[in-house]
Amino acid sequence: MVGESEAISNIKDMIEKVAPTDARVLITGSNGTGKELVAHWIHEKSHRHSAPFIEVNCAAIPSELIESELFGHVKGAFTSAVRDRAGKFEAANKGTIFLDEIGDMSLSAQAKVLRALQESKISRVGTDKDIKVDVRVVAATNKDLQKEIEEGKFREDLYHRLAVILIKVPALNDRRDDIPILINHFADKITSEQGIAPKVFSNKAISLLKGYDWTGNIRELRNVVERLIILGGKEVSEDDVKLFASK
Ligand SMILES: Nc1ncnc2c1ncn2[C@@H]1O[C@H](COP(=O)(O)OP(=O)(O)OP(=O)(O)O)[C@@H](O)[C@H]1O
Ligand SMILES: [Mg+2]
Repeated sequence: MVGESEAISNIKDMIEKVAPTDARVLITGSNGTGKELVAHWIHEKSHRHSAPFIEVNCAAIPSELIESELFGHVKGAFTSAVRDRAGKFEAANKGTIFLDEIGDMSLSAQAKVLRALQESKISRVGTDKDIKVDVRVVAATNKDLQKEIEEGKFREDLYHRLAVILIKVPALNDRRDDIPILINHFADKITSEQGIAPKVFSNKAISLLKGYDWTGNIRELRNVVERLIILGGKEVSEDDVKLFASK
């Protein structure tokens, strides 16, 4: 994780403390701030690192499928269930399950996840047989879950189960001091990935970028750096920024 701002240092310290435990972690922050990266680090620095890290994008799975996706099913549980199938919780046994975009999960799926967290056991769809699972749960959302709770869209009991440790990833606009090292980091990474000669950004180019409004956060910054490397000159100049990345 690149960054030396106070906000990022605090997050790194928190990861160091939290990762070796089994405490559940809820990561919040807007789009592209690095929530997924934080979740990966928590797993990598835990004693579970050699077991699977299983990611579930709760927003991408239709609500009628999420139960089977998370908990698996037995043959005949529904029309297309032609054979027994394990779900993501079983796949993550001894490791970490990352429930990404948890704020988009339906209320009925939330109820099932709550049970899995309370009892550390699950059952596949179509059977009552319990299966014990040893899984560390990390969740993330870009939604304001307090607001979702007030509006009746998110279960408060589930919130309190998930948010034992709360990590708030700050917006890039709130830690602009990290922008220069992030630009250099991405410039190195992108040129080496694409097998092109290293490129530097002029100081003026960097200052200009530092003042931009980064609503898309780190992901947006990375895209802009990539664009400037492809389109800009040998040394990426202030004019390149104005020409190819004006806001
Ligand atoms: N501190 C950081 N140092 C280096 N790279 C970072 C950092 N934070 C984020 N990134 C990179 O920025 C991109 C976006 O990060 P990530 O996918 O973790 O964000 P996110 O918060 O999960 O986004 P979304 O809300 O859209 O799912 C990724 O390519 C990630 O590797
Ligand atoms: Mg993400």
